[in-house]
Amino acid sequence: MMWYLILITIYFMQEQCSSTFSPFTNLCLLVQTNYSCRCLIPKTLYCYNLKLDHIPQLPLSNKFIQWNNWILAKNNFKYLSAHSFIGHTIHTIDLDSNYLSTIDINAFMGINGSSLRQLILSNNNLSYLHLSIFKHIPNLQTLILNGNRLQSLTFTQLNNLEVLELDQQKNDKDEFLPNLSAITSLLTLSLKFNRIKYLSSSHIFPSSLQSLKLTGNFIRHLSSRLFRFVPNLRYLYLDSNRIETIDSNAFLDIKYLLELNLAGNRFKTIPTYFVLEKLPYLKIFNLSFNQLTILLPNSFDTLLNLEELDLGQNQIYSLSSHTFCTNKSRFQQLSVDLSSNSLTTIDYCTFSNKNIKFINVGYSRQLRCSCSLDKLKLIDQIELKGYCNSNQHIMSSSNQFEKCLNWTNGGCKNSCERETYFYPLSQIELLPTISSYSNIIESKTSKSWHYQTNFMSTFTLLIFHFSNIF
Ligand SMILES: *[C@@H]1O[C@H](CO)[C@@H](O)[C@H](O)[C@H]1NC(C)=O
Ligand SMILES: *[C@@H]1O[C@H](CO)[C@@H](O)[C@H](O)[C@H]1NC(C)=O
Ligand SMILES: *[C@@H]1O[C@H](CO)[C@@H](O)[C@H](O)[C@H]1NC(C)=O
Ligand SMILES: *[C@@H]1O[C@H](CO)[C@@H](O)[C@H](O)[C@H]1NC(C)=O
Ligand SMILES: *[C@@H]1O[C@H](CO)[C@@H](O)[C@H](O)[C@H]1NC(C)=O
Ligand SMILES: *[C@@H]1O[C@H](CO)[C@@H](O)[C@H](O)[C@H]1NC(C)=O
Ligand SMILES: *[C@@H]1O[C@H](CO)[C@@H](O)[C@H](O)[C@H]1NC(C)=O
Repeated sequence: MMWYLILITIYFMQEQCSSTFSPFTNLCLLVQTNYSCRCLIPKTLYCYNLKLDHIPQLPLSNKFIQWNNWILAKNNFKYLSAHSFIGHTIHTIDLDSNYLSTIDINAFMGINGSSLRQLILSNNNLSYLHLSIFKHIPNLQTLILNGNRLQSLTFTQLNNLEVLELDQQKNDKDEFLPNLSAITSLLTLSLKFNRIKYLSSSHIFPSSLQSLKLTGNFIRHLSSRLFRFVPNLRYLYLDSNRIETIDSNAFLDIKYLLELNLAGNRFKTIPTYFVLEKLPYLKIFNLSFNQLTILLPNSFDTLLNLEELDLGQNQIYSLSSHTFCTNKSRFQQLSVDLSSNSLTTIDYCTFSNKNIKFINVGYSRQLRCSCSLDKLKLIDQIELKGYCNSNQHIMSSSNQFEKCLNWTNGGCKNSCERETYFYPLSQIELLPTISSYSNIIESKTSKSWHYQTNFMSTFTLLIFHFSNIF
């Protein structure tokens, strides 16, 4: 019986650990017995959630046995003593969600050939990290320190560090914004949810930086030449802050930016021409979850390489036909997200620009099924997603839309208007843009077919009216 069990275990371990039958298999068994850790392919020691309070003491790695990744997350480690990993070749150590408050300066001493590349110390109780800790792991590329209690940080030893995450420090200080300019190899830095109120200079970031995440802070304004010390920045995330204003020279030094996320801020208007003209290579621009109401002509004209524009979850009720349909701009296959706004109609010309490929108008509860929308749907390269209000027709997937609309020679009949109304093609192409709320009210109140929609729109418009006053 006993032998039978052991054989099954060996068979099972072989499946789990390694495709060849080697001393490695037996070693897995050993580890399993002593610490209940498991071996996973490829070369991973998996000791997750086992209430361990000491790092497993395993036989030294050699050319047959080696665990490149030590998953030690969710245990009870409070302290990392000296030489915890000595004699092993390790690429990744994951110590997430323990209770570490102290790390011996020699904790990482003796790791074979400075092999450690990735160290995860998130969600511990660290308030201080001694500089010399990193002396023993000079090849570290990724360091994750989210969810600790760090007060300040200075690094000098980490000459190969590329990714540093410092989100959500739970210290008693107001804000956590360390000077990291000494990490001259850093490419990606994350400082989310650290109560940062005021970013006065970028002289705290290394000039190598390509991606900066400042999501979920309290920043209100971006000042002139703010990014002067990070000229290589490609990705900038400033979502969920309180930004209302941007100086026209704020982005002067980061002309190669590819992605700008300003979602969840307090913008009432699109940042001006003078702000955006500094970002000629921008591909992704996110302005969702703001307080935008009107899109003015030519707002995005300078963003010639824009591919994704997210304007969802605003209060946009007016869209100039020359916002997207301009002589100047030649968008490269642009997708526009206008979902969850307050548009009532979209002029055909608005999106007749040949390089727009996708428009999402989902959850625009007041969008009317109009001939110009229908015409838009007929443009081959545009994929239109969303509903118009009167019959909740899905515009993208079918011909159901024609319940209201009927195309005839040279025009379109809309039977959901006052009476069946005929729009000649020329009129559809030049349909006036609704540029002020008084226009909307006028065009709405002349209709009798949908009293409730009328009332709702008027109501919403009144809210706009009031919010404009205050
Ligand atoms: C595993 O446990 C046994 C008995 O408790 C002990 O003799 C052996 O040294 C341990 N092995 C390791 C690698 O810790
Ligand atoms: C790691 O270092 C130990 C002690 O220096 C040595 O015995 C072992 O062979 C090394 N392992 C590898 C994979 O280099
Ligand atoms: C965190 O560390 C402090 C001392 O630095 C200690 O008082 C506290 O109990 C620790 N918290 C946990 C959850 O271990
Ligand atoms: C950050 O440190 C660098 C070099 O250590 C220094 O030159 C720079 O002035 C510091 N930045 C700020 C904002 O103090
Ligand atoms: C824009 O940001 C919002 C909120 O963070 C997010 O949900 C959305 O997916 C983003 N859009 C794009 C195109 O990345
Ligand atoms: C585009 O150019 C044509 C003639 O070249 C002009 O009539 C039209 O007004 C221009 N439209 C815009 C939006 O500038
Ligand atoms: C559209 O026109 C066709 C043929 O003229 C007619 O059968 C159909 O009922 C019309 N649809 C609507 C919604 O008026």
